[in-house]
Amino acid sequence: MRQSLLLLATVLAACSSGPSVQAPAATASPSAGRERVSINDGWRFTMGDPVDAEGRLLYDVRPDDSEAQDDRPADAEPEAAVDVEAQQRVLKPWVLPTANDFLDDPAERHERPPGHPGADVSYVQRAFDDSGWERVDLPHDWAIEGPWLEEGPYGGMGRLPSWGVGWYRKAIDLAAEDAGRQIFLDVDGAMSYATVWLNEQLVGGWPFGYASWRVDLTPYVAFGGENQLVIRLDNPPNSSRWYPGGGLYRNVWLVKTNPVHVAQWGTAVATPDVSEDAATVELAVTVDNDGDADASVEVVTEVVRLDAQGDRVGPAVARFDPLTATVEAGGSATVEGAAVVESPRLWGPPPTQTPTLYVAVTTVSRDGVPVDEVETTFGIRSLEFDPDRGVVVNGEHVYLRGANQHHDLGALGAAFNVRAAERQLEILREMGTNAIRMAHNPPAPELLELTDRMGFLVVDETFDVWERRKTPLDFHLIFPDWGEPDTRALVRRDRNHPSVILWSIGNEVGEQYTEEAGADVGRRLSAIVHEEDPQGRPTTASMNFAKPDMAFPTATDLINLNYQGEGIRDAPAYSHLQGITTSPLYPAFHAAYPDKVIVSSENAAAVSSRGTYVFPVAPGISAPVSDSTGGDPVRHYVSAYELYTAPFGSSADKVFRSLDQHPYVGGGFVWSGFDYLGEPTPYYDARSSYFGVIDLAGFPKDRFYLYQSEWRPDHPMAHILPHWTWPGRVGEVTPVHVFTSGDEAELFLNGASLGRKRKGEYEYRLRWDDVVYEPGTLEVVAYKGGHVWARDRVETAGAPARLDAEADRAVIAADGRDLSFLTVRVLDAEGRVVPEASNRVRFEVDGPGEVVATDNGDPTSFEPFQSASRQAFNGLALGIVRLAPGATAPLTVTISSDGLAPATVEIHPSDR
Ligand code: GAL
Repeated sequence: MRQSLLLLATVLAACSSGPSVQAPAATASPSAGRERVSINDGWRFTMGDPVDAEGRLLYDVRPDDSEAQDDRPADAEPEAAVDVEAQQRVLKPWVLPTANDFLDDPAERHERPPGHPGADVSYVQRAFDDSGWERVDLPHDWAIEGPWLEEGPYGGMGRLPSWGVGWYRKAIDLAAEDAGRQIFLDVDGAMSYATVWLNEQLVGGWPFGYASWRVDLTPYVAFGGENQLVIRLDNPPNSSRWYPGGGLYRNVWLVKTNPVHVAQWGTAVATPDVSEDAATVELAVTVDNDGDADASVEVVTEVVRLDAQGDRVGPAVARFDPLTATVEAGGSATVEGAAVVESPRLWGPPPTQTPTLYVAVTTVSRDGVPVDEVETTFGIRSLEFDPDRGVVVNGEHVYLRGANQHHDLGALGAAFNVRAAERQLEILREMGTNAIRMAHNPPAPELLELTDRMGFLVVDETFDVWERRKTPLDFHLIFPDWGEPDTRALVRRDRNHPSVILWSIGNEVGEQYTEEAGADVGRRLSAIVHEEDPQGRPTTASMNFAKPDMAFPTATDLINLNYQGEGIRDAPAYSHLQGITTSPLYPAFHAAYPDKVIVSSENAAAVSSRGTYVFPVAPGISAPVSDSTGGDPVRHYVSAYELYTAPFGSSADKVFRSLDQHPYVGGGFVWSGFDYLGEPTPYYDARSSYFGVIDLAGFPKDRFYLYQSEWRPDHPMAHILPHWTWPGRVGEVTPVHVFTSGDEAELFLNGASLGRKRKGEYEYRLRWDDVVYEPGTLEVVAYKGGHVWARDRVETAGAPARLDAEADRAVIAADGRDLSFLTVRVLDAEGRVVPEASNRVRFEVDGPGEVVATDNGDPTSFEPFQSASRQAFNGLALGIVRLAPGATAPLTVTISSDGLAPATVEIHPSDR
């Protein structure tokens, strides 16, 4: 058994590219320990209810959504909920008790009615023959394969069929020796309205699609044989302002414990005193007793440092004194202790600090026999919030250079993949990003393991709506019942992550508009967060409407402003627009709340299509996009001169200026780091957003270099735009802009200087707006402090002649999950990228592996992501490949295109 546990640990380790693996109990007696088994593989799946279930398995009745408006502006005022009375039996009373551990007031907890609704439904039957259903492995997003909904009002949710009912079935063997153990089903995320049956009995469920949750299978398990697990999801239409995905889109686990065991997310670490010499580590451990006799337990914990790979280094650096408690049958008890780590290595964000992690290994013993062991990964760091500077980590002021990120992974959809998420973070880091806001919902747990390991600062966010709605069937429908459980669940799950610095309880919620009533909801949620977080991290809620003299900002600890800091629709270029109009509000908020830190939680909302340039170019530093300014009404592209924004937005230049003029603001988060599926402002017949600094395929837009120039001032770089292949523009004015971390630059066209320019105060780009196009070479020489600092050059390209392909990693794990991302460039005979090339490229594999998805970053493309053939968009295409599990030979990928010389890439399996 011990051996099989170790084997399981090895298998799990191989599935993960980071230290994300919770190893099973190593010191607990083998038959008594905890096991956490991945049950991702081998599910059966189908869409739609069987006839015998139609209309009978609703979680709750839903209001009419026929008036939904697909392209409703993001900052339109949220509306009041519409009441509907259920005239039929609904499943809600059976599902609500799953929330009981997350409701503080015993009187609020739910009693389960008798019976097992759905027990007679064909798909729930043990004997049901599901062999005709699709076989899927998790994480699974049922919508990402399309088909695209090219017509109709579906742009907001990404033009993919994410809504509808989906069923998952899996047979699970549970050994006779497991009898007497607790068996839990842990779901990291199910989109959405999950109901779970085991062996034809309704176990429970959880509606919120971004939550992680657990149901206790124990009462329904048949030990010594096969158990039929059935999960029904029911994703509503018109329920999101972006693509939610659909299905069991995160990891799913079976957890086996003794009756006496550490509770779900039952450890809480805090490091209240941190210095270079010593750190106090406080730990609370909650032990559940699901047995029928009271239990005396002893809890011991030791602390070990982890290396950058997540492996333990050296002996324990601290031991907690043994803690004891009596846990009543059917109850739980929490023990608390403290220990000192001498000369701690602190967790802090690079480049100035190192994100060192520790693990607390907690063993629970009963009558001297170990019955459970859990690991809690944490960091030792101090965190302060200074209203005149912002965030201070370990005594160092860390200015937030942040990006908002939605949860989808582009061509892979919502199905979580560690490597795909890690790649996003690597690209953001290259840009200089040091902070991520999880917009607007709980992320996959592994994403926070990545931010811990890589040292990003994180704003962890719960909701986009509370009681008032943004779309007819969004989370507001369940907020009254689930606002508290979902808030508690998020904080309990994520509180030990050192990367989390701030809890955001809401984004632009409608309660901003309802004065004290709305603020009261905020106060309630804020209090819940504080009850769950022993580290005392502040709460916030992003405000795009509430003003300093309104009630809403008083509800949270920290001021998060969306767009209001820079001002909304207030600059001359925006004066003709309708909607919220706000003058720049940093000074007014700072004056009204001198004790609260201000963060620009969303700024910019700038839009562009990578590599597309539209003429003429707006003269100012920021302009709302329209068909006549920056937008291409025919092709539905937006110019990448990077001056154009949503009606309420501001260009990066305007945001930088505003932040620099108000140095007490702690920094901000651009909307958005990556493009994402859905919300394709300004062209709602597209499939994906234009907001990203990086496109959906992960290719940097020009703006990437503008951010890099500002966020990495010590990194020598210069970047010219646009490209210089304009056969139709000879003799026409074609402005040239340069982003550089230098302070001056000289531009040359075919060797002739077009002048040397210096950035003025609050200027972030250098512009040569009168350049007359002639083919040839544009070159820029950037200077810093009078010395040559960086260069860039672009040349007029010829016709496409060959392909070039580059893998981000040529050696990957052969575990069926690790990925290699191939960037394909269309080159001319001299090796220059052909900037507008749209050649169709094909990916062919030879060897053990497959093409998982392709993309090109074009928001208007309706090619299936799964297609191994893809048109290049402005010279680039992306292929995502993986090795077959267990592969020992390399995979050869040949990328070809009619009339062009092909490219080949080899992907090798790693030894691990
Ligand atoms: C904000 C909103 C984001 C996104 C952004 C761009 O108002 O919080 O979720 O919609 O606008 O449209």
